[in-house]
Amino acid sequence: MTQERTPKARDLLRWYDRHARDLPWRILPAARKNGTQPDPYRVWLSEIMLQQTTVKTVGPYFKKFVRLWPTIGDLAAAPAPDVMSAWAGLGYYSRARNLHACAMAVVDRHGGVFPDTEEVLLTLPGIGPYTAAAIAAIAFNQPAAVMDGNVERVMSRLFAINTPLPAAKTEIRAVLQTLVPRARPGDFAQATMDLGATLCSPRKPACALCPWTEHCQAHALGIAETLPVKPPKKAKPTRYGAAFWLTDHNGHVLVRTRPPSGLLGGMDEIPGSEWLEMRRDQDTLQDAAPMPAKWQALPGTVTHVFTHFALELKVFAAKVKTRGRAPGDWVPVEALHTRALPTVMRKVVAHADVDAAKQFKAKRQG
Ligand code: ADE
Repeated sequence: MTQERTPKARDLLRWYDRHARDLPWRILPAARKNGTQPDPYRVWLSEIMLQQTTVKTVGPYFKKFVRLWPTIGDLAAAPAPDVMSAWAGLGYYSRARNLHACAMAVVDRHGGVFPDTEEVLLTLPGIGPYTAAAIAAIAFNQPAAVMDGNVERVMSRLFAINTPLPAAKTEIRAVLQTLVPRARPGDFAQATMDLGATLCSPRKPACALCPWTEHCQAHALGIAETLPVKPPKKAKPTRYGAAFWLTDHNGHVLVRTRPPSGLLGGMDEIPGSEWLEMRRDQDTLQDAAPMPAKWQALPGTVTHVFTHFALELKVFAAKVKTRGRAPGDWVPVEALHTRALPTVMRKVVAHADVDAAKQFKAKRQG
């Protein structure tokens, strides 16, 4: 039986030489063979951004970051609110806080030079086992086993591992490590990711085009689409709250900054109530308003889905003649795009003021 032949890294690398995706942070195999070395800063930045976020979404953010801060020293020296604002919209904001802390740690502890071993990389803020392995392999050509969700899928199929995730990870890592080649481990890591992202997709994998088809045990058994076995999804609770769109006579909007830690920590927001798993009537919600005003409940709600819960916000709007003592900053509508507003808050802006949202979008892209 053909599937008894063990898969070889070189079959995958040959495929990668022809089909590698041209990504903004990537040194393609031809350039690498000509001696172009990856910049550890760009490798690290891309890997942090790519955690829990798609290649397509990350592209423009990556380009913006390297334009604003071409080196790790530049990023380390940037004011934190600028980093949070540039990150706004990418989600999982603790990544941005750790990114900045990591840049400062590399400058302070390592003279601005990225450490090149998994062990030392792991001591830096925001760098866990996955990222340490990815940087070691891609930036420093070390034979590290780099395992993200795509690679888990590829390996669980190649070796027909039907233990449910996350328990399967130990087995998957062990087989992956046996495949990692001494030559080109960085390309191998990226090739396994590309294979998972393109051909070895969750549904309807394109097995006919795969360089490993003949070696794939799940393909031989006809069970590729059923792997990896995932644990049952937990139901997400819904939380409810209010947001208060308050403008003054100049058309400036009240914005406040959230506490530095916790969900959306350090990000900006349109002031709001607590988010609770209990629907409250409009009068109760209004008790959380930042100051007394003629609050109008806007029709409809804003909804947003976070990792662990869904959120439904009622938006109230009011205009005041005097600013009073509401805590926060009064921001001109045309400067909202400079603030670190996460996606849920951009939805609130769009719900409260369509024109403000249009300006915001145009200026973020410009
Ligand atoms: N996903 C995470 N890291 C990646 C990389 N270096 N290339 C492609 N996809 C990725």
